[in-house]
Amino acid sequence: MQTTDLAERIQPAVPPSNPPPLDQLHRPLHDLRVSVTDRCNFRCTYCMPKEVFGRDYDFLPRAEILSFEEIARLARCFVALGVEKVRLTGGEPLLRKNLDRLIAQLAALDGLRDITLTTNGSVLAPLAASLRAAGLRRITVSLDALDDATFRAMNDVDFPVSRVLDGIDAALAAGFAPIKINAVIRRGVNEHAIGELAERFAGPEFVVRFIEYMDVGNTNGWRLDDVVPAAEIAERLEGGSGGAPLHRADEAAGRRFHPLAPNYRGEVARRFRTASGGEIGIISSVTQPFCRDCTRARITADGHLYTCLFGTHGHDLRGLLRSGASDEALTQFLATVWRARDDRYSELRTAATPREPKVEMSAIGG
Ligand code: GTP
Ligand code: 5AD
Ligand code: SF4
Ligand code: SF4
Repeated sequence: MQTTDLAERIQPAVPPSNPPPLDQLHRPLHDLRVSVTDRCNFRCTYCMPKEVFGRDYDFLPRAEILSFEEIARLARCFVALGVEKVRLTGGEPLLRKNLDRLIAQLAALDGLRDITLTTNGSVLAPLAASLRAAGLRRITVSLDALDDATFRAMNDVDFPVSRVLDGIDAALAAGFAPIKINAVIRRGVNEHAIGELAERFAGPEFVVRFIEYMDVGNTNGWRLDDVVPAAEIAERLEGGSGGAPLHRADEAAGRRFHPLAPNYRGEVARRFRTASGGEIGIISSVTQPFCRDCTRARITADGHLYTCLFGTHGHDLRGLLRSGASDEALTQFLATVWRARDDRYSELRTAATPREPKVEMSAIGG
């Protein structure tokens, strides 16, 4: 099988760092998010506004993008430092050709328990089965609305929602379950999608997560007024009655949602069980930040390591990789960066910080 061939080709595991590195706030390193391309076929107004990411925009040239072998090698070094999960992101990761080959290389790594991917779902339908066969364990589809008009307006390229729904169906047919559905909620744009998405994806084969709109990057003109706070999302889910917030759902009998404990320390979503056996999550990075337990490192498509989604500068791993650094030297460097890490942007957010220069969402992959 493909995975075995690749396992033979990949060099042995890097010896685990003992003890694994902790950052300045005593946070371990568990998750690696790898952006495999900075390109996307959507122009979501909150992520890649057309006015900025237009025809003249300079996307990364091929030579500057990490190869699959370089990504797999870095992942191997990260595993030695405690990483157990890799999430592939973009831009839109499925625009990268032959992504299943990277997945197979990652699946062959000892110690990596979870390989997952966040996609806009637009080209998922024809690819779902091969991704699954290559070893992709889970999949998250971004879907901000169910009604075609809102969806087309939000992706800003007139892409029909039906094709994303086809992609979700194909992923289910390929054996991905549960599938996570991520929706960014923006004031005055798609609040109505909260109830619609919760209802449509209420079954046990889905987890719908509602995300507070964040001030990532420098191009989306973020304003606090555009954020629909988690508490309000919860109220809407409860039926818009202005009742108790979801996180106190236990307090009242007859509540439709039941709080669930986190799956793991540092999980970004607060989870709730729905009456129909499904799961809902709320990601409240703005109103209730979760930096204290943040165990994520991120690599951009051109091989820069960021220790925060809101980072201002990355550490150049591509230069190291291409200058012949050994696995030990690479791993050492990663550990040194992690030990020095003291990021907690969302906890320190003030009226002024959204104007600070930051890496773009499409480069760092969310
Ligand atoms: P699993 O729990 O493994 O399914 O993944 P996840 O929820 O960590 O990953 P996902 O990419 O689905 O995260 C959902 C959204 O939460 C992202 O798109 C971001 O908008 C937000 N998010 C994820 N990680 C962070 C983080 O470290 N900081 C902040 N501020 N937001 C994050
Ligand atoms: N705020 C919150 N989430 C965002 N995403 C992209 N931009 C933002 C933002 N400004 C989400 C996408 C996708 C994931 C990669 O990040 O909808 O689910
Ligand atoms: Fe593309 Fe995702 Fe950004 Fe939308 S949010 S422009 S789909 S990368
Ligand atoms: Fe982690 Fe930075 Fe997000 Fe805080 S703001 S949770 S430190 S990525």
